[in-house]
Amino acid sequence: MKRRKLLLAGLGMPALLGQEAKKGEKLAPYYPTPETIVEKMLQLGGAKKGEKVFDLGSGDGRIVIIAAERFGAHAVGVEYDKDLYAQSSEKIRRMGLAEKARIIHGDLLQQDYTSADLITVYLLPVSNEKLRPVLEKQLKKGARVVAHDFEVGGWRPDKTEVVEDDGEGRSHTLYLYKR
Ligand SMILES: C[S@@+](CC[C@H](N)C(=O)[O-])C[C@H]1O[C@@H](n2cnc3c(N)ncnc32)[C@H](O)[C@@H]1O
Repeated sequence: MKRRKLLLAGLGMPALLGQEAKKGEKLAPYYPTPETIVEKMLQLGGAKKGEKVFDLGSGDGRIVIIAAERFGAHAVGVEYDKDLYAQSSEKIRRMGLAEKARIIHGDLLQQDYTSADLITVYLLPVSNEKLRPVLEKQLKKGARVVAHDFEVGGWRPDKTEVVEDDGEGRSHTLYLYKR
């Protein structure tokens, strides 16, 4: 399969575009969301105390940790990379958040999201396309999805928020979808 490596202008996430995302495949490189943007994603998604929040492709666990610590959510990350899974799980344990936060080591396309109130994603466009039918099948009415920088193709956002400068000169676009 032919791979085209592109750096998406203004977005900063090195992307493998034009590549078919198969089950179990790496759906995005590790590229963390700045903490200021994490807060905005959770605010835009209306994260509330006691709600179930999932971050799909949770990296170092920052969205899960902030959702649990600052928003009082029950937060779950799904991370495929063994080291990121181990590091983020250890951080959650060290911070004493284990009752409210956890990381699943696995493929984000193969999990159960039927209990989710809010889903956050920072994945490539082709990966969001792969994820869409999974979420359409599983998400309950009233669940929300917030996508960072890349839209979920085929869905119309209920709200779009642009953050012109994250403090480091990068702009970010957040898309809110309500089921
Ligand atoms: C762009 S990073 C986003 C990290 C985090 N959500 C954030 O916003 O800071 C994408 C993450 O998805 C993970 N990932 C890629 N493919 C995956 C898959 N099939 N299942 C679970 N995680 C995956 C990567 O290892 C990486 O940590």
